[in-house]
Amino acid sequence: MAVELVETISELRGRVADRRSAGALGLVPTMGALHAGHASLIAEARRSCATVVASIFVNPLQFDRTDDLASYPRPLEADLDMCADLGVDMVFAPSVPEMYPGPARCAVDVGRLADHLCGSGRPGHFRGVATVVLKLFQIIQPDVAFFGEKDAQQLAIVRRMVADFNVPVRVVGVPTVRETDGLALSSRNRRMTPAERHLAPALYRVLLDVQARVRAGVPDTETIVTRAAAGLPADERLRLEYLALVDPDECQPVDRVTGPVIAAGALWVGSTRLIDNVRCVPQGQV
Ligand code: PAJ
Repeated sequence: MAVELVETISELRGRVADRRSAGALGLVPTMGALHAGHASLIAEARRSCATVVASIFVNPLQFDRTDDLASYPRPLEADLDMCADLGVDMVFAPSVPEMYPGPARCAVDVGRLADHLCGSGRPGHFRGVATVVLKLFQIIQPDVAFFGEKDAQQLAIVRRMVADFNVPVRVVGVPTVRETDGLALSSRNRRMTPAERHLAPALYRVLLDVQARVRAGVPDTETIVTRAAAGLPADERLRLEYLALVDPDECQPVDRVTGPVIAAGALWVGSTRLIDNVRCVPQGQV
């Protein structure tokens, strides 16, 4: 069945109101260029919600580089086909002026949650993410919203925003979908040359190495990270932006591992920036 495409906030509000009595309303926020990672979020929403809305909006507020914003892929027709195949009821794909009719004066301050990992290299990024997610929550008023664990810091920030602002939305985290060689699916993967694509799984391998060291009981972060990073192939196209161990709730760095942590990394492969993370638990703990 064809999916309903809605481009304005007022129309969306009307259509969503018509469906609310049917049961739980699930939202899957995306920036489009959909792949199997997004599909897994949609499938999870489809399993638990009567109505599934996917949003497709390339949010200018979260881009720190104009070239990155301009080159972000926008294959709307293919995205709509995929949403139809996955049983999405409605796609909300607003224009930039529809979402930001004038210069925004207010934004969500995400505090120290953005101080590390992707936050330090991309100033304002998570402020932009939290602001657009709050706007989408206000516009659509979903009961449940689905986010990928692939973007662990984003997920932590959304959870914290919802708690701090008493937003009546249940946030569900969905496990990362990977290629068979371990590379996490991302719309940025298609920017890589075949040779770069071949190098790309190195990030996940380093993260698995960190995970194994944590599980084995090595307590010192510096030791763990240095040894694991040494396993990266020596190739001039690879540049590790960060490799860190942080607590899962606030994404603050830990010096010593005493409980579950997130190992997160960002790796440049040529001109493509990849991020990934894995949960690490010392043996004997849950
Ligand atoms: P986007 O990068 O399109 O991702 C949309 C959602 O898909 C996010 O929750 C992300 O974590 C999830 N996702 C991406 N790749 C995944 C994978 N390999 N496995 C599982 N989930 C994956 O994240 C954004 O858009 C934006 O920041 C957004 C939240 C829409 C706000 O603009």
